[in-house]
Amino acid sequence: MNRTILMEDAPAPHGAGAFLQAPDPRHLLGLEGVPREALLDLLESATRYREKLRTPRWASDELRGIAICNAFFEDSTRTRVSFELAEQRLGAIHTTFSTSGSSLSKGESMLDTLRVLTAMHVDLMVVRHRSAGSAAFLARHLEAGVINAGDGEHEHPTQGLLDLLTLSDAWEGQFEGRRLAIVGDIAHSRVARSAIFGLTTLGAAITIAGPSTLIPAEAETLGAAVAGSVEEAMRGADGVMALRLQRERMESGLLASVGEYAKVWGIHRERVALMRPGAPVLHPGPMNRGLEIAPDVADGSESHVFRQVENGLAVRCAVLARCAAALTEES
Ligand code: CP
Repeated sequence: MNRTILMEDAPAPHGAGAFLQAPDPRHLLGLEGVPREALLDLLESATRYREKLRTPRWASDELRGIAICNAFFEDSTRTRVSFELAEQRLGAIHTTFSTSGSSLSKGESMLDTLRVLTAMHVDLMVVRHRSAGSAAFLARHLEAGVINAGDGEHEHPTQGLLDLLTLSDAWEGQFEGRRLAIVGDIAHSRVARSAIFGLTTLGAAITIAGPSTLIPAEAETLGAAVAGSVEEAMRGADGVMALRLQRERMESGLLASVGEYAKVWGIHRERVALMRPGAPVLHPGPMNRGLEIAPDVADGSESHVFRQVENGLAVRCAVLARCAAALTEES
């Protein structure tokens, strides 16, 4: 497995706790180690923002004067656009930096690039990067607050929070005694890691399933049970999360064929029927229809995919407000 670390002093990403550092409310680097009360506070705050966001043309000036830069070194649709919209709805000064057209092509390092941006009095940096550990590295080296928008195979905390909010709605706020099946490419999935950390803190159980080449060696230390088949994982589950095959992060030879993957591990109607009645189907997107999820399941009544997207906007409002409040308290 290719676990790229570009930064010379970033820690190795193996195992739980690799990127944990002293809690600092200006940053959101991951869900690992975030206490139950803090998770529930963020979910409550996101629920309040969701109500406001459902009001046509709602906007506030809560983040007036806070400068935010969205620095995306990897492609994104949902995360980038929802951060931008959340910043606009909350009245922040914001800009988005993308690698194409930047001075990175002239040899500037990521750290120097972000130091340049923070020298322009940026208060909060929302960062997506292909290297595990990049957000923690930047939090150590920049003056700005850092929000991790996905760092390689490590964590995607705002995705984790929106998944928690979606499951909280489906489970009527009750996490204890519930079990989520996570199916697919666990090894390369920052989405799975953040969901596992958040859900286990709130008392839910996780069963993971996927090709043995895509199950991480440390699976059980993360607090998840490993099933031998998708049927075993989904039977009696209270929900399933299908994961995208992260082919951009895979070495060759990890999959026999995509056709076989769809047959053996794909989420289709007969498998959904193995779960408890009404159990939700989640997918972080982008979806590969017909591969990890059947089109009729993606569009079916059990699918919560677009609720996840709506919840993503609300969660990002809550996270931006929390980090900005910490900056204001500090100054
Ligand atoms: N789920 C997710 O992170 O999607 P994007 O890559 O489109 O942001």
